[in-house]
Amino acid sequence: MAYNKNTPYNDLPDLPPKSLQLSPEIYKNLISASRHLAELNGLCSSIPEPQLLINTIVLQESKDSSAIENIVTTQDELYKATTEITEATQSAKEVLSYREALYRGLESMRKHKGLLLTKTMVEIVKTIKNNEAGIRNTPGTALKNAISGDVIYTPPCCEDEIIQKLSALEKFINDDELSELDPLIKMALIHYQFESIHPFSDGNGRTGRIINALYLVQQELLSMPVLYLSSFIIKNKALYYQLLREVTEKENWKDWVMYILNGLIETSQTTVQKIKKLLELKEETEAKMKKVLGASYNHDLLQLMFTLPYLKIEVLEKRGLAHRQTASTWLKKLSDSGILVPQKVGRTNYYVNEKLIGIFSE
Ligand SMILES: Nc1ncnc2c1ncn2[C@@H]1O[C@H](COP(=O)(O)OP(=O)(O)OP(=O)(O)O)[C@@H](O)[C@H]1O
Ligand SMILES: [Mg+2]
Repeated sequence: MAYNKNTPYNDLPDLPPKSLQLSPEIYKNLISASRHLAELNGLCSSIPEPQLLINTIVLQESKDSSAIENIVTTQDELYKATTEITEATQSAKEVLSYREALYRGLESMRKHKGLLLTKTMVEIVKTIKNNEAGIRNTPGTALKNAISGDVIYTPPCCEDEIIQKLSALEKFINDDELSELDPLIKMALIHYQFESIHPFSDGNGRTGRIINALYLVQQELLSMPVLYLSSFIIKNKALYYQLLREVTEKENWKDWVMYILNGLIETSQTTVQKIKKLLELKEETEAKMKKVLGASYNHDLLQLMFTLPYLKIEVLEKRGLAHRQTASTWLKKLSDSGILVPQKVGRTNYYVNEKLIGIFSE
């Protein structure tokens, strides 16, 4: 039967696609993407405190991925919410749920011997949406043009059909013997397939983008989840939607795969740049701090400045870094010398690592 965007696409074929041709162009991009990704992974492995980096990068991804769904926050607002400076806005809450979902996804994958299972996907969406909805079991879900209201795509219906397609996808993801395809090509196919199954009534885009990151870790292309396509997708959003549609409507796999590979190349490069800037800033800050604080230099304080860009005396006390008097002296000296920037919110004095925030809000 001919494809019809107005009726549930129950004919969506399982992966791998029969019509996918790996052209020289695709190979060229594939090699480039693999190299850039390997460079990023190498850089990450050389970092003494990777957790610090992961936190920052994951927070930025949470913001970007949510922004695709028009959940808009600023880096500043998020940091304030994580430090409980101001009450989190609804948007900030959803962004922080996204971050939690990503961590839970990783945890779930570890728990299941590295397998990326349907139940992990369900756990991710429940965490993002903070509800128990899970897999769609009523008809009526369709993707519509936000302005005209015209139907763009109607995903498969209903629960049994969806579960069947998800379990085929699960097999494709986890069984490396099933196809000879390179994992980066597979990632592109998996993302299309997941979005086309569209198993949930909301949160499919965000869940799909988390799955991408988990898959790179599963395939050991990255030892930690530091690469995200969301900022690339925001910049090339219309094309993202168009190419998903073109795969469905005319099996245009080539441009879709190229799009994802380009995203991987561009994002690996910008991420490498950001990490390098972060490392430089940290070194520079350490040297300055040693001058300013002399014998009372404290490495945990440096760490904390790069974990929580908004600091106040109480945080230093609470973390057992110093008593009030010392903490206050430190922060005063750091702001007098321009390393941290003082900012008053309500009646509390904060000391802000503005340069760090700058790197990740570019
Ligand atoms: N024609 C299409 N075919 C398949 N999937 C599509 C198509 N157009 C868009 N999508 C996917 O659907 C997602 C939106 O679905 P949904 O609203 O459930 O997810 P979300 O996470 O709430 O939103 P968003 O992805 O906008 O952040 C898009 O991000 C995209 O990945
Ligand atoms: Mg949505």
